[in-house]
Amino acid sequence: MPQPRKIIIDTDPGQDDAVAILLALGSPELEIVGISAVAGNVPLKLTEKNARKICELAGRPEIKVYAGAIRPLVRQLVTAEEVHGQTGLNGPQLPEPAMKLQDQYAVDFIVETLMREESGTITLCPLGPLTNIALALIREPRIAPRIKEIVLMGGGYFEGGNVTPAAEFNIYVDPHAADIVFRSGTPIVMMPLDVTHKALTTTQRTQAFRKLGTKVGIATADMLEFFERYDEGKYGTDGGPLHDPCVIAYLIKPELFKGRHCNVSIETASELTMGMTVVDWWGVTKREKNAMVMRDIDHDGFFALLVERLGRL
Ligand code: BDR
Ligand code: CA
Repeated sequence: MPQPRKIIIDTDPGQDDAVAILLALGSPELEIVGISAVAGNVPLKLTEKNARKICELAGRPEIKVYAGAIRPLVRQLVTAEEVHGQTGLNGPQLPEPAMKLQDQYAVDFIVETLMREESGTITLCPLGPLTNIALALIREPRIAPRIKEIVLMGGGYFEGGNVTPAAEFNIYVDPHAADIVFRSGTPIVMMPLDVTHKALTTTQRTQAFRKLGTKVGIATADMLEFFERYDEGKYGTDGGPLHDPCVIAYLIKPELFKGRHCNVSIETASELTMGMTVVDWWGVTKREKNAMVMRDIDHDGFFALLVERLGRL
């Protein structure tokens, strides 16, 4: 087996973030160097705690969790309790974590790791607003060429937005940070709503997690049953989109996804379309291609992978 790929998960858990973390923890192809929390779905105090709860649920209290940005670079924080509940992780009853939060600021952790480890060996996996990543790029611009790849959940093009008609939540919350990341010159793989809206947590799929019969399987089913109710109401579907685990699944089985390399630019000026990911899918501009924009997913393969890997925890 080749060396596991080293990743930093930057996240705002969130039930779908939680499943992404569990997928990474259950996958020997990946080594989580650390988890950096950011304000997003709920405030930072809750997201960093939720990240620790999930590590403990998986029996991995040695994973290092760091707290990062408390608010976006320029705009006021927008949260999503209507989707994720007051705690951000409503659904299962998870105990207060005993594992400690690391003292180091998440942004410093990201910079230090990238400057210490061999260049081109660290992959960043942002699952929330891009504030921590942008702050790291500002603090130490030399990290940009050292990052192997940024694989992120965010944006939407053909599907439009989920918080405004134009914008997806993670990009909308901190569009200025997203702009910095998409201009950084680092290779980016983007999992937009165009992909994640095809990855639905149907009743049958949620049941498959429950049937694992393990602590992780039952908690996952409880999380998804809470999480999906909001989007089921919104979209009239059986199940809701399981956004963030697409990022981790790509690292394990890239063949599950199909997309196109194009330019993505972020709207930061217009209030009407704030945070829109303007994807030059048809190559109608001369703007440089800066992201692999995914559009399709083998959703059965994706859920099979999830059940198998969460089943190992
Ligand atoms: C994204 O927003 C959050 O609510 C989810 O965790 C996901 O990262 C989807 O728009
Ligand atoms: Ca998220």
